[in-house]
Amino acid sequence: MEERLINIKNSAMSQILGVEEREDIEQIFINFLGKKGELSLAMKEIPHLPMEERSEIGKLANEIKATLEEQINDRRQEFGKNKKDNSKQQAVSSKEYVARNKKEEVDITLPGNKPPTGSLHLVTQAIAEITSIFEKIGFTRVRYPEVEFDWYAFGALNFPENHPARDDWETFFVDLPNDPKKGPVVLTPHTSSGQIREMERGRLPIKMLNIAKCYRRQSDVSHTQMFHQFEGLVVGENITIPNLKGVLEYFVKSYFGEKRTFRIRPYHFQFTEPSFEIDVSCGVCNGRGCRLCKAGWLEMGGSGMVHPNVLKAGGIDPKKYTGFAFGWGVERVLMMKEGLSIDDLRILYSSDLDFLSQF
Ligand code: DAH
Repeated sequence: MEERLINIKNSAMSQILGVEEREDIEQIFINFLGKKGELSLAMKEIPHLPMEERSEIGKLANEIKATLEEQINDRRQEFGKNKKDNSKQQAVSSKEYVARNKKEEVDITLPGNKPPTGSLHLVTQAIAEITSIFEKIGFTRVRYPEVEFDWYAFGALNFPENHPARDDWETFFVDLPNDPKKGPVVLTPHTSSGQIREMERGRLPIKMLNIAKCYRRQSDVSHTQMFHQFEGLVVGENITIPNLKGVLEYFVKSYFGEKRTFRIRPYHFQFTEPSFEIDVSCGVCNGRGCRLCKAGWLEMGGSGMVHPNVLKAGGIDPKKYTGFAFGWGVERVLMMKEGLSIDDLRILYSSDLDFLSQF
């Protein structure tokens, strides 16, 4: 269809430009744009084209129609003028006509058309910023499988089989046979699965930053089935809670700003002992309390000292080495930083350009 339209355009244009008598223009109009004109007939077929082609071809046809009408009107005017002037002068030759039009069309002083540019998704921007903050203090960003064995996601992280705490992770199971040793295949519900993978590499000390997609069977205004976490793991000799606090302080100030503070609350995770929940002061009310926060604090996520069973599962001697870990949501820290209160978090992944192009 595209080729047919272009052929119609070319043949009409050459006839319009070559016209010598006023009547010929009208004949050309009838032949191409009249009710049974070539272009009109072609356009009648457009609604029957396959959906994907329709809008593209429709646009092209309309453009061609507009161009032909314009050219025909130009020629009509020329002849009209000649008549009025009573001049016998012939219409301009086609060559001259094209040259004249070209001269008018190209205004070299006009600014060029800017090609449309995109920008990085705001979650991608946050990941880049988080990475650069941790790299400055010696963390190395790593990547581990998103489709993972139960062993890495739970077993090695000190979750006994059938332990009720597993339910908190709302895991997606992949329809694949179980591995005899590593169990079922799951979509990683948290980045903590990277801890054991990192330990298995056998390189100490460890300063790992694992940022990855995580999946859970959850979808509501504050949860998406796919989201991102960033997980820190530090293992070495004499690693203690003050080291964890130092890293926390550094991250909170670097990412959220000097004014923000944090607090550590006791909590429980299977894979850390002791375990903590970290809160950051609310940036909207500066800790006074507002509708966005809980009495001035926003929950950032979990953390703790690596459980000796986890070190053992990763092949590390817990008598010689200790470590701390933390795992936080990228989308969550992003909201906390911007003071954003998005009514429905799912908009982040809806490809809604009106929303995304603001960032
Ligand atoms: N994996 C936990 C979650 O998804 C978060 C977490 C808690 C990570 C404590 C850790 C940690 O590294 O030490 O809820």
